[in-house]
Amino acid sequence: MKVLGVSGSPIKNSNTDRALKLALESTGLETEFVKLKDYTVAPCQACLGCVKTNTCVIKDDGIELAEKAKEADALIIAGFTPYSSLDSRTKAFIERLYPLRHTHGYMAGKPGGAIITYAVPTDNEMLPPASDFGVNAIQFYMMEEGMEFIGDVRIKGVIPCVKCGHGDECKMSGIKMLYGPEATVSSVGVGTFEEQPEAVEAAIKLGKDIAKKITQK
Ligand SMILES: Cc1cc2nc3c(=O)[nH]c(=O)nc-3n(C[C@H](O)[C@H](O)[C@H](O)COP(=O)(O)O)c2cc1C
Repeated sequence: MKVLGVSGSPIKNSNTDRALKLALESTGLETEFVKLKDYTVAPCQACLGCVKTNTCVIKDDGIELAEKAKEADALIIAGFTPYSSLDSRTKAFIERLYPLRHTHGYMAGKPGGAIITYAVPTDNEMLPPASDFGVNAIQFYMMEEGMEFIGDVRIKGVIPCVKCGHGDECKMSGIKMLYGPEATVSSVGVGTFEEQPEAVEAAIKLGKDIAKKITQK
């Protein structure tokens, strides 16, 4: 039994990566962690060249990653939400799983989960609920492929302006945009996965629930 975890976060040892690694570890099964930044994966070009062969015509690492997904018994996809949608590495990876669809449905019946790191607070009145959009993109992929969506983990991550060095005075500061004119780099701080008990519990639960599903089969 093997669980594949794929992270689209480009930051080294990011919140997204650490949450995914905890979920994988919590399965108690054999796992593989993939960092998409280390691979080259172009988006699907919608040519349908994969229909007969179940292999993409684009000769990059997307072929190897689709093979890993095909061989795995479960899949956890982790990403973040630049400009309120799923990050492009994670999205391209999902699109490149399309060859596994026709006409066998190689992913169908497998359990899966989503991990999303976001910065816009869920109660923000101006901006859309980025974490929902990120989770939905992964959940609907899994639904469309006939997978069983087991659950999601949401981590309140880092507003990049907290780290850039100009967060307190920049007229484009996301800190003030999200938390109002009085907010500062130090009042907002850095969102850390390990300091969010709900997210930690959700990651452990996701791993355990996925393991239960595949070992019961
Ligand atoms: C270019 C860019 C745009 C972003 N836009 C949003 C956004 O619209 N909504 C949001 O919730 N987070 C946004 N973020 C914040 C990321 O979700 C946040 O940096 C997250 O913590 C990254 O995950 P990590 O901590 O695992 O690296 C943005 C980040 C970047 C780099």
